[in-house]
Amino acid sequence: MCGIVGYIGKRQASPILVEGLSKLEYRGYDSAGVAIIEEDEIKTTKCKGRLLNLEGKLSNDPIKGNIGIGHTRWATHGEPSDKNSHPHSNENESISVVHNGIIENYLQLREWLTSKGYKFVSETDTEVIPHLVDYYYKGDLLKAVMAATSKMEGSYAIGVVCSKEPDKVVAVRKDSPLIVGIGEDEYFIASDIPAVLNHTRNVYLLNDKEFVLMTKDGVKLFNEDGEGINKEVYHVTWNADAAEKGGYEHFMLKEIHEQPKVMRDTMTSRVMLGKNITLDDIKMTKEEIHNINKVYIVACGTAYHAGIVGKYVIEKLARIPVEVDIASEFRYRNPIVDKNTLMIVISQSGETADTLAALREAKSQGARVIAVTNVVGSSVSREADDILYTWAGPEIAVASTKAYETQLVAMYIIGLFFAENKGTLSKEKIEELKAEMLALPEKAEECLKHKEVVQKFASKTYMHKDMFFLGRGLDYAVAMEGSLKLKEISYIHSEAYAGGELKHGPIALIEKGTIVIALATQEDLFEKMVSNIKEVKTRGAKVLALALEGHEDIEKTVDSTIYLPKVNSLFTPLLSVIPLQLYSYYAAVQKGCDVDKPRNLAKSVTVE
Ligand code: F6R
Repeated sequence: MCGIVGYIGKRQASPILVEGLSKLEYRGYDSAGVAIIEEDEIKTTKCKGRLLNLEGKLSNDPIKGNIGIGHTRWATHGEPSDKNSHPHSNENESISVVHNGIIENYLQLREWLTSKGYKFVSETDTEVIPHLVDYYYKGDLLKAVMAATSKMEGSYAIGVVCSKEPDKVVAVRKDSPLIVGIGEDEYFIASDIPAVLNHTRNVYLLNDKEFVLMTKDGVKLFNEDGEGINKEVYHVTWNADAAEKGGYEHFMLKEIHEQPKVMRDTMTSRVMLGKNITLDDIKMTKEEIHNINKVYIVACGTAYHAGIVGKYVIEKLARIPVEVDIASEFRYRNPIVDKNTLMIVISQSGETADTLAALREAKSQGARVIAVTNVVGSSVSREADDILYTWAGPEIAVASTKAYETQLVAMYIIGLFFAENKGTLSKEKIEELKAEMLALPEKAEECLKHKEVVQKFASKTYMHKDMFFLGRGLDYAVAMEGSLKLKEISYIHSEAYAGGELKHGPIALIEKGTIVIALATQEDLFEKMVSNIKEVKTRGAKVLALALEGHEDIEKTVDSTIYLPKVNSLFTPLLSVIPLQLYSYYAAVQKGCDVDKPRNLAKSVTVE
């Protein structure tokens, strides 16, 4: 989704804004722009396409000034074009606005403003904002922005500058992320922390309807009634390098390789031998856990796939029935929810519009909500009753890998936590499972060593137009994620099927040379999976299998095999997904695709 930045200080704003925007590229965008106050006038440069285009324009025609706002746009209302790019301004260009989100009542506002004589030049919803601010402007930018936002419905994070008050940046958020960076005699706004990390580690994490007034002397925060508010400074502990490629060709490859570390980080101080699972931000009592009669796991995309693994795990360990829902379906299907229903929402960004709406729907019906999210202070974390942060660090590649891995870890932690509290497993069994879990990061390192086999298979198969992923039980859940990854970044069409479902239709598509990736890591389902593999082999498919060490006999049936270190079948998703991520990565590289920024996709989907 769109990214916004803002700067006020003693340095030239232009390079700082562009650098900040480059750290937000991961959010997905199709155009970019900046507005900078140069000698009491707002100068705007914006254009369709990559940031490089904007940089080119700025180097041909530089803007000098120490105060400005910048934007990367991901089109929602109006096609990607120079005209629709942000910043947008009022007619005399004294007010300039960058906006992330959607103004749902923009058509009514546009009509009303038009009746007052305002003229619109773009097709965007955003353009109503500078005109509204203009309408309410009586010499105080903060007050005018407050009055304008009181008329706006929908989601927004906005940054505003005004040439009549050339020493201010005003900002506010509602249902769209925004942080404030506090440097030394310089201040920033941004949609996400990496945009300011090269300048400061001290930030304010804004809540909805909190207004920011930045001058060269400091930052003041206000509530919607205009009263000053105090906020704790959040100190960012992760390194700026965490948001850089660190020697890897792509962020995705770097993030795949970070998985052993982030698994460890997510378990640290939570999963310890000889101690109960410790979850600081989940305040549920034993009695409340006993009373849960149903769990809904709700999420989108990759996070939804982590939820499917969660279903298997929580049902198995804690014996509580779990339903997994796609957030955009849950919110409209009138689900049966009561006070003993627990909802677990999973969201890397914590800002996904559908997931947030599903959370609100469940809460309004009395459910308790646990948020599993990667972003501290994100919307879902603020609205849920309890939180389990995944410690994946910033995930820059649009396709999720390490965040998924930590979401899986979170599912196992929650499963064990409930099992401990409900007494569904003996203490010895829980200790055994914890020991297995703690050994997983090392086994994940082993899986990364299979890079070459995977790369070879990718180089022989990347030109295929269709593929199939097969699995049973937990392998089926991972097959879905493998298939999504392949589609997203290599644009190869693929389908994931439960092995037992093959005969009910999809087998009709198998012909000579069809590529099938078969997961056969579940001990109790191994023989059944081998039968499914034989069914597709007989019809001419080429099969890459994933199996646990010790099952070398599978080689008689398949074309290539990748072995995973021996592990309890319950935990195989954490390992088996790694070769699948690598496979989609290498297939995409072979095809020359833009791995980190696949077409049509955005990292954080903050609109419905
Ligand atoms: C796939 C991917 C998406 C996200 C989905 C939910 O690689 O990244 O499918 O998983 O958009 O996003 P979050 O987890 O931020 O709610």
